[in-house]
Amino acid sequence: MSAQTRKKRIGVPDIRARKGGEPLVCLTAYDAPMAALLDPHCDVLLVGDSLGMAVHGMDTTIGVTLDMMILHGKAVMRAAKQALVVIDLPFGSYEASPEQAFASASRALAETGAQAVKIESGTYAGETVRFLTERGIPVMGHVGLRPQAALNDGGFRAKGRSQAERDRAIAEAKAADEAGAFAIVIEGVAEDLAREITTAVKAPTIGIGASAACDGQILVTPDMLGLFDWAPKFVKRYASLRDEVDAAVGQYADDVRARRFPEAAQTYEFKPSDG
Ligand code: KIV
Repeated sequence: MSAQTRKKRIGVPDIRARKGGEPLVCLTAYDAPMAALLDPHCDVLLVGDSLGMAVHGMDTTIGVTLDMMILHGKAVMRAAKQALVVIDLPFGSYEASPEQAFASASRALAETGAQAVKIESGTYAGETVRFLTERGIPVMGHVGLRPQAALNDGGFRAKGRSQAERDRAIAEAKAADEAGAFAIVIEGVAEDLAREITTAVKAPTIGIGASAACDGQILVTPDMLGLFDWAPKFVKRYASLRDEVDAAVGQYADDVRARRFPEAAQTYEFKPSDG
């Protein structure tokens, strides 16, 4: 088992220092009980806007709000004691201007106590990343497949098939890096492109569906735990929670219908002396 006991929480400089070193272990977290289980194993917990799909049953991340991110961020921060906690800024909360991004990011950090924010940093976002980092807000970038761009892209599509897509992913990563991002998520690209980006930037890269050429990996936790009947092809399922929950709840339903109520053995018996 990989659980680690650290004296203090991992900080942004610790993550930066892992470039080219021990791979960064990262997962998404949305609530306190799961954050408590993940925390001893992970370097980074991301309160991802994937919670729109993973927790709220949405089809995309487009409808996720800053208030939702803050609510889940607070829950994660109550339980995560060691990992660096990053809050994803949702669609519509940062793209209009650096000032809008600062207002959203500062609210997210002040209200949750998390250590950093992530933005899906298209090339246009370099100015925003710089504006935030110069004002004391650590920013994680996110390039390649950017789920918040799904409407424009016609869904969740891997990036890098054409030279134009490759050039764009590299330009996005360099823009975030030069503007001061402390780490960059690379999503949905082939290994050679992930390697090219990882070599081109100073910040550690964290891959999701982007091969082992990155400086670390992140997965959507319910996907790797097998909570849903579908997961992206690149995800290894380390557990089958869906099957376990289904079997456990089925057994519970059978017990109740047969009046084998689980609490039957512990039913309170009041004595006359109890008043
Ligand atoms: O929202 C999210 O969970 C993410 C990860 C997929 C990196 O952005």
